[in-house]
Amino acid sequence: MVLNSPRGTADLYGKELTYRNFILEKSKKLFNRFCYDPIVTPAFEHTEVFSRSIGQATDIVQKEMYTFYDKKQRSLTLRPEGTAGVVRAVVENKLYAQNLPIKLFYAGNMFRYERPQKGRMREFFQLGAEAIGSANPLMDAEMIWLISDLFSSLGFKDLVLLINSMGCTLCRKSYTQKFQEFLHHHQEKLCPECRHRLDTNPLRVFDCKRQSCRHAIEDSPKISQHLCSSCRDHFEKVRRYIKILGINCQIDHSLVRGFDYYSRTVFEVVSTALDSAQNALGGGGRYDDLVKQFGGPDLPAIGFAIGLDRTSLLMQQLGIKPSASRELKSLYLISMDQQYSEYLLELLQFFRKECICDTNFNIKNISKELKWAQKHHYDFVAIIGEEEFKNCRVSIKDMQKFKQHAFDWKNEKDTILALLRGN
Ligand code: HAM
Repeated sequence: MVLNSPRGTADLYGKELTYRNFILEKSKKLFNRFCYDPIVTPAFEHTEVFSRSIGQATDIVQKEMYTFYDKKQRSLTLRPEGTAGVVRAVVENKLYAQNLPIKLFYAGNMFRYERPQKGRMREFFQLGAEAIGSANPLMDAEMIWLISDLFSSLGFKDLVLLINSMGCTLCRKSYTQKFQEFLHHHQEKLCPECRHRLDTNPLRVFDCKRQSCRHAIEDSPKISQHLCSSCRDHFEKVRRYIKILGINCQIDHSLVRGFDYYSRTVFEVVSTALDSAQNALGGGGRYDDLVKQFGGPDLPAIGFAIGLDRTSLLMQQLGIKPSASRELKSLYLISMDQQYSEYLLELLQFFRKECICDTNFNIKNISKELKWAQKHHYDFVAIIGEEEFKNCRVSIKDMQKFKQHAFDWKNEKDTILALLRGN
């Protein structure tokens, strides 16, 4: 008798693997350019790692986890996603005791007991990025930039980026009450499961795929319209920054995503070419309270993950072919004041097209920053101080030749490129 692989799993070989390896290679190069370091965490964790973070009332925790007891009767779970394990690892190994934010990326198989169909598997593959230790809206913009560059570097053109803000614990609390009141008035239109969610975790009603429930909440109050002033300001800045980066997005007031850990910015990349239930290629958001919940310090964080299965499927469906690429120089961009953020973004965008480039998300003194860049073997350091900002100039220091050059940012881009390329 021939044995089959379990339902919802697949053997990967030939053309399918060529696509996946291409996606992995491209994304590793991109993560390197944005200065994210790799991390590998276990494929299974203590069940609590997921139940505590993802949320008891979520579909994942209630219905989709592969949980088992080992021979010593410890409850373990195959990871349904990567964020919780990364946060657990960061806290356990005190990875936060270094220059913040700490920026990590990972790739691996995840497991969810879902109803298998095209683009929805029980074992599936994700690659993701997490940045821990900065509340700066620039960090949100970098994540959104990363996910959107990832898809465009793979050859996608017409994907849609949805964005929303979930607010912080404070504004979400008062919003949840309003939403709950609304649901109470419309509970006869909800499915039995959502009627239960109404009392346990009302926001999870947004995750229900049933048409009747979606219909029932169409006119409900929306969280992004009930943000406190600090969350509103944060959300406005994120949208401004991604606009400067030339990234188009649509605000989706119903986007809450299926995890309890999110706060403030959430986003998703969807394709209209895929079946609507599986149209999300990737998504993420802020989770400012999670590190603390895991027993670590109070560190804000943000991340995203994309699904390899769906991405590869859509590439093949759209006829996008894997293609071939050069050795890159590295540059560390130092901004001396948060006021220069918009100018900084413009420069970052330029440098990251050309070389491996990172910036200081948290402002510190210049000599510390220079030492840090030297220790990390950057080829160049570019500085934006008051003088550069006011006169629209940029100073670039060649760390090997110990030479500094000053450029007129608007008119000398070609000369800057020649310097970076060593011409
Ligand atoms: P997620 O939206 O659950 O987020 O998953 C990210 C991507 O994984 C989805 O957009 C989809 O492409 C893929 N995916 C999810 N479930 C399946 C499945 N059953 N079969 C095939 N592909 C699937 C997260 O997992 C969060 N941890 C993202 C994140 C990182 N948020 C902050 N940091």
